[in-house]
Amino acid sequence: MNERLILLVAVGICYATLRTSAWSVNNFLMTGPKAYLTYTTSVALGAQSGIDECKFQFAWERWNCPESALQISTHNRLRSATRETSFIHAISSAGVMYTITKNCSMGDFENCSCDESNNGKTGGHGWIWGGCSDNVEFGERISKLFVDGLEKGKDARALMNLHNNKAGRLAVRATMKRTCKCHGISGSCSIQTCWLQLADFREMGDYLKAKYNQALKMEMDKRRIRAGNSAESRWAPAEAFYPSAESELIFLEESPDYCIRNSSLGVYGTEGRECLQSGRNMSQRERRNCGRLCMDCGLRVEERTTEAVSSCNCKFQWCCTVRCDQCWQVVTKYYCTHAPGSSRARAKGSSSAS
Ligand SMILES: *[C@@H]1O[C@H](CO)[C@@H](O)[C@H](O)[C@H]1NC(C)=O
Ligand SMILES: *[C@@H]1O[C@H](CO)[C@@H](O)[C@H](O)[C@H]1NC(C)=O
Ligand SMILES: *[C@@H]1O[C@H](CO)[C@@H](O)[C@H](O)[C@H]1NC(C)=O
Ligand SMILES: *[C@@H]1O[C@H](CO)[C@@H](O)[C@H](O)[C@H]1NC(C)=O
Repeated sequence: MNERLILLVAVGICYATLRTSAWSVNNFLMTGPKAYLTYTTSVALGAQSGIDECKFQFAWERWNCPESALQISTHNRLRSATRETSFIHAISSAGVMYTITKNCSMGDFENCSCDESNNGKTGGHGWIWGGCSDNVEFGERISKLFVDGLEKGKDARALMNLHNNKAGRLAVRATMKRTCKCHGISGSCSIQTCWLQLADFREMGDYLKAKYNQALKMEMDKRRIRAGNSAESRWAPAEAFYPSAESELIFLEESPDYCIRNSSLGVYGTEGRECLQSGRNMSQRERRNCGRLCMDCGLRVEERTTEAVSSCNCKFQWCCTVRCDQCWQVVTKYYCTHAPGSSRARAKGSSSAS
């Protein structure tokens, strides 16, 4: 294996699996099943696409999926088991499954292809199975092998990570869609052929973000959580507590206060962050964005204007050029800044996990 590939995988997997040091990633790759080396680049790409989606989903939250959250947890001492950790695991595991599944449908691998096992069978009234259904089973198997394979422990955190990895993979399945094509005399659509297709990755990200918002906290003995890798900290699967929790995200510890910088926890705080000021077409939650990021954290909202140049009044000229004017535009942005002279008195009733 060349170094670049190892690095790529190290980046992907390191981010994907919070508890793994670069050393053990390399170690894993070297000792992992040789037959599966074909998939490592795609696995790394998949994990990275999960992390990119995490950054998108949390761009305007107090916790915004920072690199530190992904790196700090590689030190076993500081592995966190928060709601945010659960999201990172789920989205990374889903990203790997998603990418591998797409690769299969594109014919990128010899060992897998579309799932055509139902083709020709009647699916429902007026439609039969046909075409290329995405082969999620294969993607699921590879994701399990690579992502779950990095959880060596048997402690509560390891089990929590495994659970959330699985919830991520279930999200890929849950968001799949039936897509159909019409047949019949002159497009009468009297009969359709249908296949199952992965949703857009964004849609899957939205789905997991909703799961994050309703994640379940597992109540445990605090000392056992702290004990970390100790073999003593046995733990029953979440399903033992919540019978239908299989597809839910679970966490063990409350989130720290993401308002305030705490470098030992890898928390940056919201000072200096850009926030969204109320706009007409924003959701209720977005409208409160500067409130949540700045004011509720004891910070002030500062308005900064800059001039930006852009192309405008573009006209198509026969044939074949496009002429544009250069327009100056005033761009206003808002940032959280330290209120001068004021102590950082915190507004009451704000949730630290938001
Ligand atoms: C790919 O298929 C071959 C032949 O069926 C099999 O021997 C091999 O183990 C498979 N590899 C993987 C990674 O599934
Ligand atoms: C798998 O798909 C990704 C894009 O989705 C692509 O970049 C990558 O090259 C594919 N892997 C293989 C082995 O073709
Ligand atoms: C950072 O967090 C740790 C653990 O919660 C806490 O003990 C410490 O006081 C915090 N440090 C600061 C500067 O807030
Ligand atoms: C509405 O939303 C779009 C897309 O997010 C954005 O480009 C546009 O500027 C928004 N309009 C207003 C009035 O805020």
